[in-house]
Amino acid sequence: MAVRRVLKMGEPLLAVVAAPVERFDAELASLVADMNDTMQALSGAGLAAPQIGVSLRVVVFEVTVNPRYAHVSPVPYTVLVNPELTPLGDDQEEGWEGCLSVPGLRGLVPRFRRLRYRGFDAQGQPIERTVEGFHARVVQHEVDHLDGILYPQRIRDLHQFGFEEALAGRMTPMPD
Ligand code: NI
Repeated sequence: MAVRRVLKMGEPLLAVVAAPVERFDAELASLVADMNDTMQALSGAGLAAPQIGVSLRVVVFEVTVNPRYAHVSPVPYTVLVNPELTPLGDDQEEGWEGCLSVPGLRGLVPRFRRLRYRGFDAQGQPIERTVEGFHARVVQHEVDHLDGILYPQRIRDLHQFGFEEALAGRMTPMPD
């Protein structure tokens, strides 16, 4: 287990489509352990394997109660392998996002409000959930990483993109 270096926007691996996981083995468990260590060390809300240089379809996320993000509902700790997202309805909402691969910046990003996601945990057990709001946002952000998409590519109005300290007062703070 180790805290790994997080790749930054511009590094080519962040822009490629990651490969599906084929074996739920010790190598996968070790990858997930490193992702957890890295996410916790950097106080992230989520992390995708490509962000630590591994081009596989694995994400982890967790949002605990944090007074800094009092408006954000907690999201249970989840490891999601080979995820599939199905939006429920066309309803989208804009919300502020950050990313450990885009440090110091925040942007206003449209996401589907409700969706169903399916995938597997690190042991290969199926997961299926219907979620909305911030939980749905986090999953969409993390799964985008697996398709080589970073949130700035989703921003509709680039006036709503900037440095966290410069945006203070205009934006609702959000975890990375
Ligand atoms: Ni991210």
